[in-house]
Amino acid sequence: MRRSPESGARTAEPALEPLLVELARAGRGGGHVPDADASAVIPARFRRTVPLALPELVEQQVVRHFTHLAQLNYSVDTGFYPLGSCTMKYNPKVNDRAAALAGFADLHPLQPEADTQGALRLIWELERLLAGITGMAEISLQPAAGAHAEFTSLLMFKAFHAGRGEGARRRRIIVPNSAHGTNSSSAALCGYVVTTVPSDPRGNVDLAALRAALGDDVAGMMLTNPNTLGLFEEHLEAVMAAVHGCGGLMYGDGANMNALLGIARPGDLGFDVLHLNLHKTFSTPHGAGGPGAGPVCATPALAPYLPVPRVIRSEEGRFRLDSQRPQSVGRVRAGHGNFGVLVRAYTYIRQLGEEGLRATGEDAVLAANYLLSRLRPTFDVAFDRPCMHELVLTLAAQKSAGASALDVAKALIDEGFHPPTVYFPLSVPEAMMIEPTETEPKETLDAFADALLRIAALVRTDPAAVRAAPLSAPLARLDEVRAARNPALTWERASS
Ligand SMILES: Cc1ncc(COP(=O)(O)O)c(C=O)c1O
Repeated sequence: MRRSPESGARTAEPALEPLLVELARAGRGGGHVPDADASAVIPARFRRTVPLALPELVEQQVVRHFTHLAQLNYSVDTGFYPLGSCTMKYNPKVNDRAAALAGFADLHPLQPEADTQGALRLIWELERLLAGITGMAEISLQPAAGAHAEFTSLLMFKAFHAGRGEGARRRRIIVPNSAHGTNSSSAALCGYVVTTVPSDPRGNVDLAALRAALGDDVAGMMLTNPNTLGLFEEHLEAVMAAVHGCGGLMYGDGANMNALLGIARPGDLGFDVLHLNLHKTFSTPHGAGGPGAGPVCATPALAPYLPVPRVIRSEEGRFRLDSQRPQSVGRVRAGHGNFGVLVRAYTYIRQLGEEGLRATGEDAVLAANYLLSRLRPTFDVAFDRPCMHELVLTLAAQKSAGASALDVAKALIDEGFHPPTVYFPLSVPEAMMIEPTETEPKETLDAFADALLRIAALVRTDPAAVRAAPLSAPLARLDEVRAARNPALTWERASS
């Protein structure tokens, strides 16, 4: 439903909610800031000569505007959100309460160490908790996202090889086609040449292709495990041995750590550097570009290259920042990273404890396999073997019958669900990637499976109806490419 704007302002597209500037009326708002006080303290040369052209509104208009916008949103707090590769689990509100504590929320990143002992301690303890979970020796919490952590880790690879006089020679990074897309982008951005290796018929790295791709010019390999097909790499030892055998380093994309929590530790599996996505596994909402954190975890051999400053604890239990690490790749993020995300992860891990974390991993894998067992009789599975935390269907048969993966995803909106990821991973035709996470009860999983099976039946009898979906959404099919490439971010006043 379109709420009709009261003014004739010009917007490029029909809006679902008028802009604040469209709702504004001259003389209605403002006037609450005691201008005289401000003028007294702000030197004349810094004061505006023309009033700022802010929209004039009363408080409830602003509150209603943002409430309407929030109501248009679908979120993990609204319903099931099985967006594969994003781990859209429900995030307990206690995490937000902890992050909002004044002692954390009001800190300034440049406050002296003496004032910030609690925050530094939290960073230090979180690093140790994550070291225990991953089996890695040292961790930096600085990077702000998974891709940022990948880039940071590859800088560490470069510094490591340069330190051995092999920097100029080791120019290639191996990336399997089942890796997350950011892996090859990060490698390319870091100046490496990317060699892609295919998957074998079970969705593992094709060992023969990997061995053929290796050489003494390889800096390392980036392995997403579980990979983006939702599968655990079955030849991990052989992959490690082959890469290490040619002097390369093994990078673990641990953003899918949700599947392994309390069950397997990447450090024990042989990775040299690993990253985590706190905003997937450790309970900060992920998606829509919100703040994240991508800790980089390293073995003792790679730890000297981690970003600085590092948080150090003295024997007396005081915490301080240490930048005296000559081999470090330097600072990659201002302040202490996205500190609020770190507080949320700390709260989540402390609240669950060891047993709770293991149950999280087990339940995530169980939920995905339960959905797999319900959907397998009707849908083709990309690689038909037990999955980890997510499953990948291929809807090529449905496409031949008249409705593509995109159509089926849109039909799920009319069933009341957020659609899963589609057309990723790229190696699977008409891919649909479903990640239920551990936080949903069986009834939700069943309702979702029932909805997908109903849509599959409709594809067989009336594919045009599926192609017409969604009918219940405020807007039907959007031009997603245009929305991403040419977003309308400015407002122009209508000429009178
Ligand atoms: C496996 C994997 N690796 C890397 C990333 C990139 O993380 P970010 O989006 O925080 O850059 C993601 C994001 O979902 C991911 O799922």
